[in-house]
Amino acid sequence: MVKITFVENDGTRTEVEAEEGLSLMKAATYGGVAGISADCGGNCACGTCRVYVPEAWRHVFGEPKDSEAEMIEFSQDTTDGVRLSCQTRVTPEMDGMELGLPDSQHY
Ligand code: FES
Repeated sequence: MVKITFVENDGTRTEVEAEEGLSLMKAATYGGVAGISADCGGNCACGTCRVYVPEAWRHVFGEPKDSEAEMIEFSQDTTDGVRLSCQTRVTPEMDGMELGLPDSQHY
């Protein structure tokens, strides 16, 4: 299992034990992370599963696909390191990672 900590905008921290290969969004929602709403269920169509990836961890994500980049643009969230958690799978390299969350996943 891979330990990943999600940090809400108010500082609340939730550590999840994520299964390798699971989407980061599912790892968060199964783990009770309140700040991920994931309204479209992981279909890259809502932008409500955004996470903020600190610079030190961006290399484990790789480049976003066009569909992810377009959805992020549509969400109008220009925060540094923003990614869609439904479009990334958990890998062993993510063990110990901390991710930030927006103050709201709604518009
Ligand atoms: S869950 Fe909708 S875009 Fe990720």
